[in-house]
Amino acid sequence: MKLRLALLSDAAALAAVEATRPQAAGWKEEGFAAELQQPCARIWCSIEKEKITGFLALRVTNGFCEILNVAVLPLWADKGIGYALLTHALETVKAKGPCRVTLEVAQDNVAARALYAKAGFKALGQRKNFYGPGKDAFILGMDV
Ligand SMILES: CC(C)(COP(=O)(O)OP(=O)(O)OC[C@H]1O[C@@H](n2cnc3c(N)ncnc32)[C@H](O)[C@@H]1OP(=O)(O)O)[C@@H](O)C(=O)NCCC(=O)NCCS
Repeated sequence: MKLRLALLSDAAALAAVEATRPQAAGWKEEGFAAELQQPCARIWCSIEKEKITGFLALRVTNGFCEILNVAVLPLWADKGIGYALLTHALETVKAKGPCRVTLEVAQDNVAARALYAKAGFKALGQRKNFYGPGKDAFILGMDV
């Protein structure tokens, strides 16, 4: 597996990964293109045989980082790609100095919550009905 930063020309391929995963943020190609043009945004992607198999999107500004979106193609799930994307992205953030990293995850998203827990994230709070009636979000965070 290779990891690299996504380019503007990757927007369609990233949207294709996203479309396979209803639990991700629902970004379309235009959303990825807009995000890739934000100076504080980074999208790391995983590559197998020159094809994008997963990605993780974050924004970093002076000491604060927010993870906005992550998804791995179902065919490539449970092979360590999500964890590799997350830990690599966190290492690059840490390399630039201490940073508080936060994110929101749906209470019923078992796989994502386990991924973040494995990486060391802890619950900071809860947002009631954040994803719709009865669909709460956990705010998770860690300092790197
Ligand atoms: C969450 C997601 C990115 C994980 O990617 P992945 O490459 O399959 O995950 P990994 O293989 O790297 O697994 C890392 C850890 O995540 C957890 N995990 C991954 N898939 C899991 C599953 N189906 N059930 C429970 N835990 C799971 C485990 O703790 C695992 O560690 P382990 O293998 O030591 O048990 C992937 O399931 C996905 O794309 N989900 C849909 C999109 C989504 O929910 N995004 C998050 C929005 S906040």
